[in-house]
Amino acid sequence: MSTAVSIIIPTYNERDNIIALVRRIDQALSNYEYEIIFIDDSSNDGTAEVAAALSPKYPVKVIIRQNKRGLASAVVDGLGYVKSEVIGVMDADLQHPPEVIPQLLKEIGSGADVAIASRYVEGGGCQGWGLMRRIISKGAIFLAHLLLPSTRKVKDPVSGFFMINRRVVGNTELKPTGYKILLEILIEGEFQSVAEVGYTFRTRSGGESKLNARQQIDYLKHIYSLMRRKGELVRFAKFCLVGLSGILVNMGLLWLLTEFVGLFYLLSAAISIESSIISNFILNDFFTFPDRRLPGAKSFFGRLLKYNLVCVAGLGVNMGVLWLLTDFLGIFYLVSELGGIVAATLWNYTLSILWAWK
Ligand code: GDD
Ligand code: MN
Repeated sequence: MSTAVSIIIPTYNERDNIIALVRRIDQALSNYEYEIIFIDDSSNDGTAEVAAALSPKYPVKVIIRQNKRGLASAVVDGLGYVKSEVIGVMDADLQHPPEVIPQLLKEIGSGADVAIASRYVEGGGCQGWGLMRRIISKGAIFLAHLLLPSTRKVKDPVSGFFMINRRVVGNTELKPTGYKILLEILIEGEFQSVAEVGYTFRTRSGGESKLNARQQIDYLKHIYSLMRRKGELVRFAKFCLVGLSGILVNMGLLWLLTEFVGLFYLLSAAISIESSIISNFILNDFFTFPDRRLPGAKSFFGRLLKYNLVCVAGLGVNMGVLWLLTDFLGIFYLVSELGGIVAATLWNYTLSILWAWK
């Protein structure tokens, strides 16, 4: 009989949680064939020994790595040891209740390629989290949704508790940094459908969390690396280039209309600002966002209208920052304007990818 599911569990100093964890998994999976693969980074509290001692009674394998190389990389290594076509990933500290595993299996059984235990769908939550942790968690997810658009359909793309079909990662090289192996799989994996199952992230039962500022920096590095791999950095560079071309259009027209057509300079300015917005829009539509263009005239003009509104508001952002830096911080106005331009560019880009070219 083939193993129905292989569960990869990265561990670092989790001695006090292992026995309860394995018992609860065994109970939850009493109707399934399963195996557990612990990937231990040479814990110094005897985690690996406790786990190995369970192997006569439970289908447990223990892989020991020599250096502490991180959660996500432990999961990637674990993929090399699995027997089954269905692969689960979870933490060892019982913050991920094993009783949820059968629900994930059910989603995979009914056709999902990726099934995620999610804190942010109905039935999900976090036990005992203060406001600060909630904000950090939501902020991290917002950043992923903003900068890696293909994650937007997933409410909890940073969950550490999920299940996949082996083929999702069969042909891909995974290069995660830090903790968020699911994010890497959602970006680099091959899959059609994703399901999320609500669950409550429990308080830790024993040992300590290894999450610290280092992981938060790693998270930013990971997002940056994924953006680079997916061409999102190039996209931003293109957007900035188009912005520069807009300045040329704007200034050139202002000069032409004022000097040669003889219009009052403020009228010329109004015309040239709008012209540069339109030329930016057309360039961005074909050059920066070719993959996000819905066909049809209605959608084209819809995007144009949205981009226009974004830019007008962006002008407000530019002036606001210029005024704040100059009047309140006493910075020379031409230097302040550099801040204004950076702020407006970030504003325009953010709203463009979130709204105009959603
Ligand atoms: N092998 C190995 N190497 N395992 C590690 C390492 C490491 O360097 N660092 C942590 N682990 C193991 C821990 O032993 C635990 O089993 C699991 O990875 C999670 O570590 P925690 O330190 O408990 O993380 P957390 O509770 O703050 O965050 C977890 O839950 C979040 C919400 O689902 C992680 O899974 C996050 O990725 C997840 O977003
Ligand atoms: Mn934990």
